[in-house]
Amino acid sequence: MSVERQGSTPDRDQTDQGYRFAALREALREGETLSVKLDGQDLLLCQYRERVYAFENRCPHQGRAMDGALIRRGQLVCPHHGARFDLETGAPSGPLARCALKAFEVRLIASDVLVDSQPKGVTDSVP
Ligand code: FES
Repeated sequence: MSVERQGSTPDRDQTDQGYRFAALREALREGETLSVKLDGQDLLLCQYRERVYAFENRCPHQGRAMDGALIRRGQLVCPHHGARFDLETGAPSGPLARCALKAFEVRLIASDVLVDSQPKGVTDSVP
């Protein structure tokens, strides 16, 4: 399933600390993925065991979108050649992908899924 936000509701576009509205929770299904576009960025939302994860929707193996990826035993499985990535970290397992998926923090507030604008491990501040 794919969702691209066309219009915008100001109170859902931005929240404190850089989190952006990505989808309504009801749009997600257990064990499935949902592709969304936020500020021109393609993301893949995944729901597994009632937790929601967000990754850049671009497989490090060949750079293809991972729409339709499967979730198996806590891993996201690319639909193209089967590369596997840990849902908690985005780390690859197996020989196909050597780089991790870019992972984003997710917050669930009421019925909304909010995604950080920066990937995990990246901050705006300069030391
Ligand atoms: S493009 Fe994802 S495994 Fe090849």
